[in-house]
Amino acid sequence: MSTEQPAPQRAAVLKGLGTWLPRRAVSNEELSARLDTSDEWIRSRTGIRQRFWAEPGTATSDLAVEAGARALKSAGATGADAVVLATTTPDHPCPATAPAVAARLGLGTVPAFDVSAVCAGFVYATATAAGLITAGIAERVLVIGAETYSSILNPEDRTTSVIFGDGAGAVVLEAGGADEPGALLGFDLGSDGSHPDLITVPAGGSRQRLSDTEPDPADAYFRMQGKPVFTHAVTRMGQSSTALLEKIGWEKESVDRFVGHQANVRILHSLADLLGIDRERAVVNLDRVGNTSAASIPLALGDAVADGRITAGDRVVLSAFGGGLAWGSTALVWPDITTA
Ligand code: ACO
Repeated sequence: MSTEQPAPQRAAVLKGLGTWLPRRAVSNEELSARLDTSDEWIRSRTGIRQRFWAEPGTATSDLAVEAGARALKSAGATGADAVVLATTTPDHPCPATAPAVAARLGLGTVPAFDVSAVCAGFVYATATAAGLITAGIAERVLVIGAETYSSILNPEDRTTSVIFGDGAGAVVLEAGGADEPGALLGFDLGSDGSHPDLITVPAGGSRQRLSDTEPDPADAYFRMQGKPVFTHAVTRMGQSSTALLEKIGWEKESVDRFVGHQANVRILHSLADLLGIDRERAVVNLDRVGNTSAASIPLALGDAVADGRITAGDRVVLSAFGGGLAWGSTALVWPDITTA
């Protein structure tokens, strides 16, 4: 009889994390000076007190390169077999932004492509990268979430201008065993395309270009119907993270940190209540960076690791929701890594 243990199942393991924010912090007071809003309204309705906006001339790829380089450094890696970039604000409608990022990072001719799932983009990109690894197509993948929402915000729209920020976050995933700390233990992903108008940039795609009507200049900007989106966000992230926990066999009470999409502190607290965990276990960094869409989860991870809210061995659940509608969740036991 053999005493050899079977090899653990091949999995994607988180080995590095890096983040980057533009230098320009935009306070609620600055926005209140030019829009019909107030620090009090923004703080009490969203929890946000500032966000960072890129200087003119800085594009999504510029932020992505900075975060990507830091994630590779954090993993002690100089190369990767693929780059998957989640963004709603690519440098251009065509081509994808990821190949330029891969080239600027000196990664050569590796496969590189964008994933478009709005605020759920980082979880979708992570699932895609994990698939490349578990299928044996890649050994190491750089996953980046990067956004310059300031480029699509209508400066006259107080309902969106106060909420969104720019930034980038990245992780390095490597092939390893499912029993290692950092292994992504499973995914729950979903979409509902029957509400396309709740979160949209109406112009700039084939739908608008092929229409006979004269485009409204405001259609080039991002729009969101906040109230119904709030309800969908709580419902979908709640269902998705619950389904994921059932799939991987974790009790809700065993979750040390819930890292939800940083859209609104009231959403994050509702989710903590729904999962039956203390609100303190819900990581919040939107007060500092606003809603950074596809960059939201890695930026929240970066802040939480830097200030000790997440430490090695913690059971961490990531859950995101955004336009599409699209949502997704994953989970891991936090590995012993240093972020950059
Ligand atoms: N300052 C002052 N008043 C404002 C502002 C503002 N910045 N924005 C809206 N208001 C007003 C509205 O005009 C409205 O006034 P009225 O009552 O006279 O009509 C009132 O405040 C209430 O507006 P609501 O939209 O009902 O405000 P709500 O409390 O729902 O907060 C918010 C709005 C913050 C957007 C909230 O709905 C929210 O967080 N929604 C979820 C966002 C989210 O989850 N996004 C995730 C996906 S994002 C993505 O995929 C890109």
